[in-house]
Amino acid sequence: MDAIRWEGKTLYLLDQTRLPVEEVWLPYTDYRPVADAIRTMVVRGAPAIGVAAAYACCLAALAGEDLEEAKAVLAASRPTAVNLFWALERMAQTAKSCGGDPEALIAEAVAIHQEDVEMCKAMGLYGSAVVPEGANILTHCNAGALATGGYGTALGVIRAAHEQGKVNMVYADETRPLLQGARLTAYELVADHIPATLIADNMAASLMAKGKIDLAVVGCDRMAANGDFANKIGTYSVAVNAHFHGVPFYVALPCSTIDLSIPDGVGIPIEERDKNEVRTLYGVQTAPAEVDVYNPAFDVTPHSLVTGIITEKGVIYPPFQENLQKLFG
Ligand code: MRU
Repeated sequence: MDAIRWEGKTLYLLDQTRLPVEEVWLPYTDYRPVADAIRTMVVRGAPAIGVAAAYACCLAALAGEDLEEAKAVLAASRPTAVNLFWALERMAQTAKSCGGDPEALIAEAVAIHQEDVEMCKAMGLYGSAVVPEGANILTHCNAGALATGGYGTALGVIRAAHEQGKVNMVYADETRPLLQGARLTAYELVADHIPATLIADNMAASLMAKGKIDLAVVGCDRMAANGDFANKIGTYSVAVNAHFHGVPFYVALPCSTIDLSIPDGVGIPIEERDKNEVRTLYGVQTAPAEVDVYNPAFDVTPHSLVTGIITEKGVIYPPFQENLQKLFG
């Protein structure tokens, strides 16, 4: 399964706002609508946003447009996932060294895309080692093939563990307000014939209390130098609940999601989204139109609640600050 394709001189994005009801691929030949696609979550998930932005830089180069301007427009699309800024910086460095040659930029974007898939597969293998036989696993939001270049981070770990016959059941939090768990994770699990049970977000603690969850694994949008990390709103609740019930809690991410320039979670910028995302469900009003709403897209989980960090270079355990530094030599 994939959500991003580059064919000829066109970027195609699988419109994730319409899943699972419709599978519609949208073509892009201009970088500006790609910035809109990131903002409106046609493409979403930290690594996928980075890959899409890299291809958008290629569209700007092919049109002979100013790459610095394109970078600024794309960077303004969503603030939290650091992969966006990481990929734009990598494209800017390539532009500098190749004099803005579109073919060299395309090669770099394709490399970013392919490397992401490879990293997910490596994460899957390392992460599957922490999954016990017959595991019941909880995940939150969508950190799957749709959220990456392909295969997935947290869902990559689950895929690899499933391939090894270790997975009894995956519980997917539906993930209000935009239902990435219900619409996207459940869609991926069903497509891959991985045993899946969808739950509303407020049901996870009760499953843990009954001893029905062996481990939780989630993705990440940005990890600070001390291991604190931002992920989809509700991840923190999962971590607190897991801690209370003694359930191992893992976060899976490629090194491109680690931001060593930020010392701890307090410094991670958290996107706030449109209030109507909470007042409505699938376009149907579910609350008074006048009621005020708090709608952060992400929350920060402190590293003290994390059992292990699964990366493409291996699984890291505390002390996280020291061991994250070692990843970067
Ligand atoms: O708002 P979204 O859907 O882009 O949020 C996605 C997440 O929070 C994912 O868990 C994260 O980006 C990791 S994806 C491998």
